[in-house]
Amino acid sequence: MHDVATLAPMLPSPRGPLSERVVADLRTDPSRLAQRPTGLDAADDTDAALALWMLHELSYRGFDDVSPDAEWEPAVLTVRRELQRDLEGRLRDRWPGHETRGGDLADELMRFIEADDGPSVASYVHTRATREQVLELVRWRSIYHLRESDPSTWTLPRLTVGPKAALAELQYDEYGAGRPDRLHSHLFAEGMRALGLSTHYGAYVDECPLEVLEMNNVMSLFGLHGRLRGASMGHLAAFEVTSSVPSGHLARGLQRLGMPELVDYYTEHVVADSVHDQIAVRLICAALATDEPEQAQDIFFGAFTCLDQEARFARAILDRWAVAA
Ligand SMILES: [Fe+2]
Ligand SMILES: [Fe+2]
Repeated sequence: MHDVATLAPMLPSPRGPLSERVVADLRTDPSRLAQRPTGLDAADDTDAALALWMLHELSYRGFDDVSPDAEWEPAVLTVRRELQRDLEGRLRDRWPGHETRGGDLADELMRFIEADDGPSVASYVHTRATREQVLELVRWRSIYHLRESDPSTWTLPRLTVGPKAALAELQYDEYGAGRPDRLHSHLFAEGMRALGLSTHYGAYVDECPLEVLEMNNVMSLFGLHGRLRGASMGHLAAFEVTSSVPSGHLARGLQRLGMPELVDYYTEHVVADSVHDQIAVRLICAALATDEPEQAQDIFFGAFTCLDQEARFARAILDRWAVAA
């Protein structure tokens, strides 16, 4: 059967003048994109984040209504680079810095990530969320999960031997270890389909807030730039370390609500991510810092950014559900 989750999406609805311009030019003539009269005329952060999300998507499966040539169109790359600079500047401004002690980075990074005490959507889903709230969470998360792990794959060729072998092992697992039916993004798509949701990639972008667009842009930014390989792997480590326990909460919440369709996906992550976290922290990040000590600071920057993005996401959705975070 043809898996619609692998099909390219259509361009989303604009959220302001910049994303409107991006939609119009991508659809008709991408080379016109750099001819905007003055700088970046985004209405707000959401408008800019949606524009960047679209430009990033050209490096994944692209859009049904955009020529594949747009991916490497210089005008498109110019605007994408401007938006990426703005985003990275914001992320660096939020980063308080971390005093690394030298020596083995693994324990220090693990402690840094485990000290995070951000609000937990998963705990709320476990005990209190309604079916409608969980469906909304699934729709918002689908922007990442339907192409789960792809942003980290960009980093693979930029790594030294040890971290490369370890990332390949981790990604092999994320991509189903040779079995298409165990591909994590496919497991998520199957769950969505069983819940009656669309599995067409990006089907729910129009309803996603800034926090969802930004967290996806962050992963693409880190993955697409070799310069940011440390941040990309630090982000991955924080993601994996903070996945296993919440996945258990989410699986039990889905069971409580009589929604077994996605339980398999989250149960898979309870087990898999209790191994992935060790691979990511010890065999990827610590080994990377040994091979390339100048990457250590960016590894912590990436980990911090992942936790900060998750906290922003949690506050956005819990506020919407009127739950004190
Ligand atoms: Fe996964
Ligand atoms: Fe994982």
